[in-house]
Amino acid sequence: MKKVIYMFIATLALASVALATESQIWGEMRIPNILGYGQEETLKLGALFTLLQSKYFAWIFLAVLIGVPSVFFLHYKLVGPKVFPHSHKKHYAFNLFHRTVHQIAAVSFLVLIPTGFIIVFGDFFGGGTLVRMAKNLHGIFTIPFAIVVIPMALMWLKEALFNLEDVKWFMILGGYLSKEKQVINATQFNAGQKMWYWVAILGGITMILSGAIMFFLDFKMEMLHNLTGLSQIDLLRVAAILHNVMGFAVVALFITHVYMSMFAIKGAVHSIITGYVEEEEVKYLHNAWYKKLKEKGKF
Ligand code: HEM
Repeated sequence: MKKVIYMFIATLALASVALATESQIWGEMRIPNILGYGQEETLKLGALFTLLQSKYFAWIFLAVLIGVPSVFFLHYKLVGPKVFPHSHKKHYAFNLFHRTVHQIAAVSFLVLIPTGFIIVFGDFFGGGTLVRMAKNLHGIFTIPFAIVVIPMALMWLKEALFNLEDVKWFMILGGYLSKEKQVINATQFNAGQKMWYWVAILGGITMILSGAIMFFLDFKMEMLHNLTGLSQIDLLRVAAILHNVMGFAVVALFITHVYMSMFAIKGAVHSIITGYVEEEEVKYLHNAWYKKLKEKGKF
């Protein structure tokens, strides 16, 4: 029942946003409406926006795209993956609802991120059909992510709350800098996983809203104007700056999430496919959670 309610909330939230729009979104009114965005009351963000957009954003995205995987390639070569036997007991940690929500988010991101890069490097790709297609795919695959982001937020909220143990985890980066298998006193989600949760959820929602403002460019956003006092053109510029800056964090943490779950711990990816986590992996990397599961006779 709870799950049906989560889905219902998400669908409602989306429906209400769609209903809020009242202007002609597509076709011939699009550009003329933008031209109507006189400079009245504008924060004159034009100069800052053009500077960031033309001089910094693309280079920072390139640095994330090359830098983050390079660091993990080095980690894999110098420290290597943690290997735990998969022959011991297992615990059912992710039910069908968790995995369905997760996989929808995963597939969305596997389209959103590459198409986002094609848009950022639109000139390099020569503009035209490829970039236009990437832009439309980017818009379309936002929808499934927008539907699952609230259910994901609610289903893992309790596990994602930080505690004092997380400070210790950050100080030793969860033991991932040493080849040795250390017992880490983390709960079900360690501090790194909690950080990804909050960036994926809060960052994801920021990307959806700022992206929607840019995608629907011309619909009159009276409510937002009254709320922020920003003119239409400034709302667009703030949305673009937010989408880029939050994009740096979401992309960097997404690459980290994929590396941690597919390479840093051998075979960990199975947990989000089958729902089962391995006893040894939980015992070493999530020892506080392991003790709780032991008490409940789960292991
Ligand atoms: C191809 C992409 C992805 C892969 C291979 C992947 C893999 C995994 C795996 C194996 C787990 C379970 C980790 C554990 O045993 O605790 C997991 C958990 C999780 N995933 Fe993903 N995931 C992907 C994409 C995403 C996306 C796009 C999001 C959200 C936008 C996401 C959000 C989460 C969260 C919040 C968790 C729980 C906390 C954590 O383990 O980090 N994942 N994922």
